[in-house]
Amino acid sequence: AVQPTRDDKFSFGLWTVGYNGSDPFGGPTRPQLDVVEAVEKLDELGAYGLTFHDDDLFAFGSTDAERQTQIDRLKGALESTGLVVPMVTTNLFSAPVFKDGGFTSNDREVRRFALRKVLRNVDLAAELGAETFVMWGGREGAEYDAAKDVQAALERYREAVNLLAQYVTDKGYGIKFAIEPKPNEPRGDILLPTLGHAIAFIDTLERPELFGVNPEVGHEQMAGLNFTAGIAQALYSGKLFHIDLNGQRGIKYDQDLVFGHGDLQNAFSLVDLLEHGAPQGGRAYDGPRHFDYKPSRTEDITGVWDSAAANMRMYLLLKERAEAFRADPEVQAALEAAKVTELAKPTLNEGESYDAFLADTSAYEDFDTDAYFGGKGFGFVKLQQLAIEHLMGAR
Ligand code: GCO
Ligand code: MN
Ligand code: MN
Ligand code: MN
Repeated sequence: AVQPTRDDKFSFGLWTVGYNGSDPFGGPTRPQLDVVEAVEKLDELGAYGLTFHDDDLFAFGSTDAERQTQIDRLKGALESTGLVVPMVTTNLFSAPVFKDGGFTSNDREVRRFALRKVLRNVDLAAELGAETFVMWGGREGAEYDAAKDVQAALERYREAVNLLAQYVTDKGYGIKFAIEPKPNEPRGDILLPTLGHAIAFIDTLERPELFGVNPEVGHEQMAGLNFTAGIAQALYSGKLFHIDLNGQRGIKYDQDLVFGHGDLQNAFSLVDLLEHGAPQGGRAYDGPRHFDYKPSRTEDITGVWDSAAANMRMYLLLKERAEAFRADPEVQAALEAAKVTELAKPTLNEGESYDAFLADTSAYEDFDTDAYFGGKGFGFVKLQQLAIEHLMGAR
């Protein structure tokens, strides 16, 4: 079952397979990829969706006619293949005007222009039936502390997204927004650098229910964080609206490798969590499995499609391994022994008052702390070894 089908809900950004290989040190290695070719090829490979920034589809500064031509070409390709557009996003980072950000540029006129650019693309997202609108604020930030009033910037960000929420509500669009955190790059420091920052920010909004997060594997890992643990918290908060899957190897520049080509063990625990939820829980995430990666700069167009297929294959292989892990009786026993399941049990008895709790001598006065670690270890290493053996296909 490592042949992707539509039911797997794999989607790709047009900017991912369309990445031409240019970087800050050198020019492109591949020609521009046409949207129709992208849709047809992704369909052939088993994906179900394409996502895009406005500027991926029609170049920044396009005339209305040029823009419409590209939209029509995309619609034609969607119609003939059956691919869908589950998510749309806006480019507020490539054009030089956005070098100090869009929603939070110090320049008010830039902020007004950015917001209009987003509103226009929200209309397009609704027209195409997208359910999620992603906001990655890569230029919303600063290199220098004195150059940005962070509190004012957050206030402007809030102002912008509150307006967007009002707009989709008034228009009756079925669109929700997903904020994508990233700690740095291209800015020295980006606002809302981790999913925790983003979730706290969402709490301050006028319509928080319309906002969630779009965490990217590599972005949390660039901050040295455990992606799977972050996703668990996003799920816990009901805020996992979308996800960007890719690979990253440690705290360095944003690598955007194929999913699983970075921290493989964390990719395994991630797929296990998305597919199976908590140890006792059911499926945790039903949205698109969206790949936001970059085919390496060393690759030609064949390498582009090989890498696109590799993302889906990695996900499905990890899903198989995770299923085997969950089904293994030895794993079940190890989870039990490690008391992983006991954590789901409330710490206090039902209806237990603090008076009753304080009167319970077994909880404190008679509790044998010496039993830890005189023969009462948790056995986490044994459990981890089982996990890794399943990941390796050794069991
Ligand atoms: C990155 C980001 C971007 C965003 C995209 C969607 O790697 O820095 O992931 O690729 O996901 O711009 O808005
Ligand atoms: Mn990235
Ligand atoms: Mn991303
Ligand atoms: Mn990226």
